[in-house]
Amino acid sequence: MIYLDNAATTFPKPDAVWEAVISCGREKCGNPGRSGHRLAAAAARELFAAREAVAGFFHIADSSRLIFTANATSALNTALYGLLKEGDHVVTSALEHNSVMRPLHTLEQQGVIALTMVSCSPRGELDPADVKKAVRPDTRLVVLTHASNVCGAILPIREVKALLPEIPLLVDAAQTAGALPIDVQKWGIELLAFSGHKGLLGPMGTGGLYVAPGLQLAPLLQGGTGSRSERLEQPDFLPDRLEAGTPNLPGLSGLRAGVEFIEEQGLENIRNHEKRLTGLLLDGLAGHDCIRIHGPADPERQTGVVSITLDGRDPGDIARRLDREFGIACRASLHCAPLAHRTLGTYPQGSARLSMGFFNTEEEIEEAVRALRAIAEEKI
Ligand code: ALA
Repeated sequence: MIYLDNAATTFPKPDAVWEAVISCGREKCGNPGRSGHRLAAAAARELFAAREAVAGFFHIADSSRLIFTANATSALNTALYGLLKEGDHVVTSALEHNSVMRPLHTLEQQGVIALTMVSCSPRGELDPADVKKAVRPDTRLVVLTHASNVCGAILPIREVKALLPEIPLLVDAAQTAGALPIDVQKWGIELLAFSGHKGLLGPMGTGGLYVAPGLQLAPLLQGGTGSRSERLEQPDFLPDRLEAGTPNLPGLSGLRAGVEFIEEQGLENIRNHEKRLTGLLLDGLAGHDCIRIHGPADPERQTGVVSITLDGRDPGDIARRLDREFGIACRASLHCAPLAHRTLGTYPQGSARLSMGFFNTEEEIEEAVRALRAIAEEKI
Protein backbone atom coordinates (compact mmCIF):
# COMPACT_ATOMS: atom_id res chain seq x y z
CA MET A 1 0.00 0.00 0.00
CA ILE A 2 1.08 3.56 -0.70
CA TYR A 3 -0.19 5.47 2.31
CA LEU A 4 -1.03 9.09 1.48
CA ASP A 5 -3.43 9.83 4.35
CA ASN A 6 -0.94 11.20 6.84
CA ALA A 7 -3.11 14.25 7.55
CA ALA A 8 -5.67 11.88 9.09
CA THR A 9 -3.04 9.95 11.03
CA THR A 10 0.56 9.18 10.23
CA PHE A 11 1.36 5.62 9.20
CA PRO A 12 3.61 3.81 9.77
CA LYS A 13 5.00 4.98 13.10
CA PRO A 14 8.63 4.46 14.02
CA ASP A 15 9.27 1.08 15.70
CA ALA A 16 10.57 2.96 18.74
CA VAL A 17 7.05 4.33 19.32
CA TRP A 18 5.47 0.90 19.63
CA GLU A 19 8.44 -0.39 21.64
CA ALA A 20 7.92 2.49 24.10
CA VAL A 21 4.18 1.72 24.35
CA ILE A 22 4.87 -1.94 25.09
CA SER A 23 7.71 -1.39 27.54
CA CYS A 24 5.66 1.21 29.42
CA GLY A 25 2.69 -1.14 29.55
CA ARG A 26 4.82 -4.06 30.72
CA GLU A 27 7.12 -2.32 33.17
CA LYS A 28 5.87 1.12 34.23
CA CYS A 29 2.12 1.11 34.11
CA GLY A 30 1.11 1.94 37.65
CA ASN A 31 -1.23 4.91 38.08
CA PRO A 32 0.93 8.07 38.08
CA GLY A 33 0.46 10.51 40.94
CA ARG A 34 -2.04 8.30 42.77
CA SER A 35 -0.48 5.50 44.79
CA GLY A 36 2.93 5.65 46.52
CA HIS A 37 4.40 2.28 45.56
CA ARG A 38 7.33 1.79 43.23
CA LEU A 39 5.30 1.04 40.12
CA ALA A 40 3.22 4.20 40.60
CA ALA A 41 6.43 6.19 41.12
CA ALA A 42 7.89 4.74 37.89
CA ALA A 43 4.66 5.75 36.12
CA ALA A 44 4.90 9.30 37.51
CA ARG A 45 8.49 9.55 36.26
CA GLU A 46 7.42 8.26 32.85
CA LEU A 47 4.62 10.83 32.64
CA PHE A 48 6.97 13.62 33.69
CA ALA A 49 9.54 12.54 31.09
CA ALA A 50 6.86 12.63 28.36
CA ARG A 51 5.71 16.07 29.49
CA GLU A 52 9.27 17.41 29.50
CA ALA A 53 10.02 15.98 26.05
CA VAL A 54 6.90 17.42 24.41
CA ALA A 55 7.23 20.76 26.24
CA GLY A 56 10.84 21.05 25.09
CA PHE A 57 9.80 20.34 21.51
CA PHE A 58 7.47 23.39 21.50
CA HIS A 59 9.88 25.56 23.59
CA ILE A 60 7.50 25.59 26.54
CA ALA A 61 9.57 26.84 29.50
CA ASP A 62 7.44 25.31 32.27
CA SER A 63 6.26 21.82 31.35
CA SER A 64 3.47 21.92 33.94
CA ARG A 65 1.69 24.32 31.57
CA LEU A 66 1.42 21.51 29.02
CA ILE A 67 -1.77 19.51 29.51
CA PHE A 68 -2.09 16.08 27.97
CA THR A 69 -5.41 15.36 26.27
CA ALA A 70 -6.88 12.52 24.23
CA ASN A 71 -6.51 14.39 20.92
CA ALA A 72 -6.50 17.89 19.37
CA THR A 73 -10.29 18.08 19.52
CA SER A 74 -10.24 17.59 23.27
CA ALA A 75 -7.46 20.20 23.61
CA LEU A 76 -9.41 22.73 21.51
CA ASN A 77 -12.64 22.17 23.47
CA THR A 78 -10.72 22.52 26.73
CA ALA A 79 -9.35 25.87 25.56
CA LEU A 80 -12.61 27.22 24.11
CA TYR A 81 -14.97 26.14 26.89
CA GLY A 82 -12.35 26.95 29.52
CA LEU A 83 -11.71 30.50 28.40
CA LEU A 84 -14.84 31.91 26.79
CA LYS A 85 -17.56 33.56 28.83
CA GLU A 86 -20.86 35.25 28.14
CA GLY A 87 -20.40 38.41 26.07
CA ASP A 88 -17.03 37.45 24.57
CA HIS A 89 -16.28 38.04 20.91
CA VAL A 90 -14.15 35.54 18.99
CA VAL A 91 -12.37 35.90 15.66
CA THR A 92 -11.56 32.86 13.56
CA SER A 93 -10.78 31.99 9.95
CA ALA A 94 -12.77 30.39 7.14
CA LEU A 95 -10.32 27.48 6.98
CA GLU A 96 -11.04 25.94 10.37
CA HIS A 97 -11.78 22.29 11.09
CA ASN A 98 -15.04 21.28 12.78
CA SER A 99 -13.13 20.71 16.01
CA VAL A 100 -12.95 24.52 16.20
CA MET A 101 -16.07 25.45 14.27
CA ARG A 102 -18.56 23.17 16.04
CA PRO A 103 -17.80 24.34 19.59
CA LEU A 104 -17.69 27.97 18.40
CA HIS A 105 -20.95 27.56 16.50
CA THR A 106 -22.60 25.99 19.57
CA LEU A 107 -21.42 28.82 21.82
CA GLU A 108 -22.70 31.34 19.27
CA GLN A 109 -26.08 29.59 18.96
CA GLN A 110 -26.41 29.55 22.74
CA GLY A 111 -25.87 33.32 22.75
CA VAL A 112 -22.69 32.98 24.80
CA ILE A 113 -20.29 34.46 22.27
CA ALA A 114 -20.33 36.59 19.14
CA LEU A 115 -18.27 35.15 16.29
CA THR A 116 -16.53 36.76 13.32
CA MET A 117 -15.16 34.51 10.64
CA VAL A 118 -12.45 36.12 8.52
CA SER A 119 -12.52 35.10 4.86
CA CYS A 120 -9.55 33.54 3.13
CA SER A 121 -8.73 33.51 -0.57
CA PRO A 122 -9.67 30.48 -2.70
CA ARG A 123 -5.99 29.49 -2.50
CA GLY A 124 -6.20 29.40 1.28
CA GLU A 125 -4.52 32.74 1.99
CA LEU A 126 -5.38 34.72 5.12
CA ASP A 127 -4.48 38.41 5.30
CA PRO A 128 -3.36 39.27 8.87
CA ALA A 129 -4.74 42.80 8.35
CA ASP A 130 -8.22 41.28 7.91
CA VAL A 131 -7.90 39.57 11.27
CA LYS A 132 -6.94 42.87 12.86
CA LYS A 133 -9.92 44.58 11.20
CA ALA A 134 -12.28 41.95 12.66
CA VAL A 135 -11.17 42.65 16.21
CA ARG A 136 -13.54 44.59 18.50
CA PRO A 137 -13.18 45.97 22.02
CA ASP A 138 -14.85 42.81 23.38
CA THR A 139 -12.69 40.34 21.42
CA ARG A 140 -11.45 37.78 23.92
CA LEU A 141 -9.78 35.30 21.58
CA VAL A 142 -8.44 34.75 18.08
CA VAL A 143 -8.51 31.09 16.96
CA LEU A 144 -6.53 30.03 13.91
CA THR A 145 -5.44 26.80 12.40
CA HIS A 146 -1.69 26.77 11.77
CA ALA A 147 -2.30 24.96 8.48
CA SER A 148 -5.44 23.82 6.70
CA ASN A 149 -6.13 20.09 6.96
CA VAL A 150 -7.79 20.31 3.54
CA CYS A 151 -5.25 22.08 1.33
CA GLY A 152 -2.18 22.41 3.56
CA ALA A 153 -2.11 26.24 3.37
CA ILE A 154 0.06 27.61 6.18
CA LEU A 155 -1.53 30.56 7.95
CA PRO A 156 0.51 33.62 9.01
CA ILE A 157 0.29 32.92 12.75
CA ARG A 158 3.31 34.99 13.73
CA GLU A 159 2.20 37.98 11.67
CA VAL A 160 -1.27 37.90 13.26
CA LYS A 161 0.27 37.70 16.73
CA ALA A 162 2.58 40.61 15.96
CA LEU A 163 -0.43 42.73 14.93
CA LEU A 164 -2.49 41.68 17.96
CA PRO A 165 -0.11 41.22 20.88
CA GLU A 166 -2.79 41.86 23.51
CA ILE A 167 -5.42 39.35 22.35
CA PRO A 168 -4.95 35.69 23.29
CA LEU A 169 -4.29 33.48 20.28
CA LEU A 170 -5.34 29.83 20.20
CA VAL A 171 -3.43 27.95 17.51
CA ASP A 172 -4.77 24.64 16.19
CA ALA A 173 -1.55 22.81 15.37
CA ALA A 174 -3.20 19.46 14.58
CA GLN A 175 -1.63 19.52 11.11
CA THR A 176 1.68 21.19 11.93
CA ALA A 177 2.99 19.75 15.22
CA GLY A 178 5.96 17.69 14.09
CA ALA A 179 5.77 19.04 10.53
CA LEU A 180 6.73 22.70 11.03
CA PRO A 181 8.79 24.35 13.78
CA ILE A 182 6.68 25.91 16.55
CA ASP A 183 8.11 28.10 19.31
CA VAL A 184 5.41 29.24 21.71
CA GLN A 185 7.77 31.58 23.55
CA LYS A 186 9.21 33.36 20.53
CA TRP A 187 5.86 33.56 18.79
CA GLY A 188 4.01 34.65 21.93
CA ILE A 189 1.23 32.07 21.48
CA GLU A 190 -1.08 31.85 24.51
CA LEU A 191 -2.79 28.54 23.64
CA LEU A 192 -1.46 25.75 21.43
CA ALA A 193 -3.58 22.65 20.76
CA PHE A 194 -2.05 19.65 19.01
CA SER A 195 -2.63 16.00 18.28
CA GLY A 196 -0.05 13.34 19.09
CA HIS A 197 -0.85 10.80 16.38
CA LYS A 198 -0.14 12.90 13.29
CA GLY A 199 3.17 14.73 12.71
CA LEU A 200 4.43 13.91 16.20
CA LEU A 201 4.27 10.21 15.22
CA GLY A 202 2.75 9.12 18.53
CA PRO A 203 -0.14 6.71 19.08
CA MET A 204 -3.80 7.69 18.73
CA GLY A 205 -5.39 8.85 21.96
CA THR A 206 -2.68 11.42 22.61
CA GLY A 207 -2.61 15.18 22.23
CA GLY A 208 -2.15 18.28 24.30
CA LEU A 209 -2.74 21.90 25.10
CA TYR A 210 -0.23 24.54 26.12
CA VAL A 211 -1.60 27.31 28.34
CA ALA A 212 0.56 30.42 28.70
CA PRO A 213 1.29 31.88 32.14
CA GLY A 214 -1.42 34.29 33.24
CA LEU A 215 -4.28 32.40 31.57
CA GLN A 216 -6.58 30.48 33.92
CA LEU A 217 -8.99 28.08 32.18
CA ALA A 218 -12.11 26.62 33.77
CA PRO A 219 -11.77 22.82 33.63
CA LEU A 220 -13.90 21.01 31.06
CA LEU A 221 -13.64 17.81 33.11
CA GLN A 222 -13.45 17.57 36.87
CA GLY A 223 -12.42 14.56 38.87
CA GLY A 224 -9.54 12.72 40.43
CA THR A 225 -6.07 14.16 40.08
CA GLY A 226 -4.25 12.43 42.93
CA SER A 227 -3.67 15.90 44.44
CA ARG A 228 -5.62 17.90 47.09
CA SER A 229 -7.98 14.94 47.42
CA GLU A 230 -9.48 16.37 50.64
CA ARG A 231 -11.05 19.22 48.64
CA LEU A 232 -14.18 19.07 46.53
CA GLU A 233 -12.92 21.76 44.16
CA GLN A 234 -10.69 20.96 41.22
CA PRO A 235 -7.08 22.02 42.02
CA ASP A 236 -6.19 25.51 40.77
CA PHE A 237 -2.69 24.54 39.60
CA LEU A 238 -1.51 22.98 36.36
CA PRO A 239 -1.40 20.41 35.00
CA ASP A 240 -3.84 18.91 37.55
CA ARG A 241 -6.52 21.55 37.02
CA LEU A 242 -7.07 20.43 33.42
CA GLU A 243 -6.07 16.77 33.66
CA ALA A 244 -8.74 14.93 35.64
CA GLY A 245 -8.70 11.15 35.40
CA THR A 246 -6.06 8.54 34.67
CA PRO A 247 -3.90 9.50 31.69
CA ASN A 248 -3.05 7.35 28.67
CA LEU A 249 0.43 6.60 29.95
CA PRO A 250 1.45 3.95 27.37
CA GLY A 251 0.28 6.32 24.63
CA LEU A 252 2.23 9.20 26.12
CA SER A 253 5.37 7.05 26.33
CA GLY A 254 4.88 6.39 22.64
CA LEU A 255 4.37 10.10 22.01
CA ARG A 256 7.66 10.87 23.73
CA ALA A 257 9.38 8.29 21.52
CA GLY A 258 7.79 9.96 18.48
CA VAL A 259 9.12 13.35 19.51
CA GLU A 260 12.56 11.88 20.17
CA PHE A 261 12.51 10.25 16.73
CA ILE A 262 11.75 13.64 15.14
CA GLU A 263 14.57 15.25 17.09
CA GLU A 264 16.99 12.53 15.98
CA GLN A 265 16.00 12.95 12.32
CA GLY A 266 15.87 16.75 12.58
CA LEU A 267 12.61 18.62 12.06
CA GLU A 268 14.20 20.63 9.25
CA ASN A 269 15.12 17.43 7.41
CA ILE A 270 11.58 16.12 7.81
CA ARG A 271 10.13 19.39 6.53
CA ASN A 272 12.55 19.39 3.57
CA HIS A 273 11.62 15.81 2.68
CA GLU A 274 7.90 16.59 2.81
CA LYS A 275 8.43 19.76 0.76
CA ARG A 276 10.31 17.76 -1.87
CA LEU A 277 7.49 15.20 -2.10
CA THR A 278 4.86 17.95 -2.24
CA GLY A 279 6.74 19.66 -5.07
CA LEU A 280 6.98 16.36 -6.95
CA LEU A 281 3.25 15.74 -6.62
CA LEU A 282 2.31 19.31 -7.59
CA ASP A 283 4.65 19.29 -10.60
CA GLY A 284 3.41 15.86 -11.67
CA LEU A 285 -0.22 16.97 -11.65
CA ALA A 286 0.28 20.51 -13.01
CA GLY A 287 -0.76 21.34 -16.52
CA HIS A 288 -3.26 18.52 -16.97
CA ASP A 289 -6.51 19.80 -18.47
CA CYS A 290 -8.83 17.95 -16.07
CA ILE A 291 -6.85 18.05 -12.82
CA ARG A 292 -7.52 20.98 -10.46
CA ILE A 293 -5.23 21.62 -7.54
CA HIS A 294 -6.87 23.50 -4.66
CA GLY A 295 -4.77 25.57 -2.30
CA PRO A 296 -1.41 27.33 -2.54
CA ALA A 297 0.19 24.86 -5.02
CA ASP A 298 3.54 25.92 -3.59
CA PRO A 299 5.52 23.61 -1.27
CA GLU A 300 6.92 26.61 0.63
CA ARG A 301 3.43 27.78 1.57
CA GLN A 302 1.82 24.49 2.46
CA THR A 303 2.35 21.34 4.47
CA GLY A 304 2.57 17.98 2.72
CA VAL A 305 -1.16 18.09 1.98
CA VAL A 306 -2.50 18.41 -1.56
CA SER A 307 -6.20 18.56 -2.43
CA ILE A 308 -7.33 17.88 -5.97
CA THR A 309 -10.48 17.40 -8.01
CA LEU A 310 -10.83 15.89 -11.47
CA ASP A 311 -13.38 17.56 -13.73
CA GLY A 312 -16.64 15.62 -13.86
CA ARG A 313 -15.62 13.06 -11.25
CA ASP A 314 -16.72 12.44 -7.72
CA PRO A 315 -13.79 12.78 -5.25
CA GLY A 316 -15.07 9.74 -3.32
CA ASP A 317 -14.88 7.70 -6.49
CA ILE A 318 -11.31 8.88 -7.17
CA ALA A 319 -10.26 7.81 -3.66
CA ARG A 320 -12.01 4.46 -4.02
CA ARG A 321 -10.30 3.76 -7.31
CA LEU A 322 -6.91 4.82 -6.02
CA ASP A 323 -7.37 2.36 -3.16
CA ARG A 324 -8.81 -0.59 -5.07
CA GLU A 325 -6.99 -0.35 -8.39
CA PHE A 326 -3.68 1.27 -7.42
CA GLY A 327 -3.23 0.44 -3.73
CA ILE A 328 -3.05 4.14 -2.82
CA ALA A 329 -4.72 5.31 0.42
CA CYS A 330 -6.01 8.89 0.57
CA ARG A 331 -9.05 10.71 2.00
CA ALA A 332 -11.91 12.22 0.00
CA SER A 333 -14.95 14.42 0.55
CA LEU A 334 -15.18 17.22 3.16
CA HIS A 335 -12.44 16.27 5.65
CA CYS A 336 -14.54 17.54 8.61
CA ALA A 337 -13.93 21.07 7.33
CA PRO A 338 -16.93 22.21 5.26
CA LEU A 339 -16.07 25.90 5.62
CA ALA A 340 -12.60 25.31 4.27
CA HIS A 341 -14.16 23.59 1.24
CA ARG A 342 -16.51 26.57 0.76
CA THR A 343 -13.42 28.81 0.79
CA LEU A 344 -11.60 26.67 -1.75
CA GLY A 345 -14.69 26.37 -3.97
CA THR A 346 -14.96 22.61 -3.51
CA TYR A 347 -18.18 22.49 -1.44
CA PRO A 348 -20.27 20.31 -1.32
CA GLN A 349 -18.53 17.53 -3.21
CA GLY A 350 -15.19 18.09 -1.49
CA SER A 351 -11.87 16.92 -2.89
CA ALA A 352 -9.47 14.01 -2.93
CA ARG A 353 -6.70 14.77 -0.47
CA LEU A 354 -3.26 13.22 -0.68
CA SER A 355 -1.14 13.84 2.38
CA MET A 356 2.49 12.92 2.67
CA GLY A 357 4.64 11.97 5.62
CA PHE A 358 8.21 11.23 6.56
CA PHE A 359 8.05 7.60 5.45
CA ASN A 360 6.82 8.29 1.91
CA THR A 361 9.28 8.03 -0.96
CA GLU A 362 9.68 9.84 -4.28
CA GLU A 363 8.82 6.59 -6.08
CA GLU A 364 5.50 6.43 -4.25
CA ILE A 365 4.65 9.97 -5.28
CA GLU A 366 5.56 9.21 -8.90
CA GLU A 367 3.23 6.19 -8.72
CA ALA A 368 0.41 8.40 -7.35
CA VAL A 369 0.94 10.89 -10.18
CA ARG A 370 0.76 8.10 -12.78
CA ALA A 371 -2.42 6.73 -11.19
CA LEU A 372 -4.16 10.11 -11.03
CA ARG A 373 -3.19 10.96 -14.59
CA ALA A 374 -4.46 7.58 -15.75
CA ILE A 375 -7.83 8.16 -14.06
CA ALA A 376 -8.02 11.74 -15.39
CA GLU A 377 -7.32 10.61 -18.96
CA GLU A 378 -10.09 8.04 -19.08
CA LYS A 379 -13.15 9.03 -21.07
CA ILE A 380 -16.16 9.61 -18.82
N1 ALA B 1 -8.65 15.87 11.03
C1 ALA B 1 -8.14 14.71 10.40
C2 ALA B 1 -8.15 14.86 8.90
O1 ALA B 1 -8.05 15.95 8.42
C3 ALA B 1 -8.76 13.45 10.87
O2 ALA B 1 -8.25 13.88 8.20
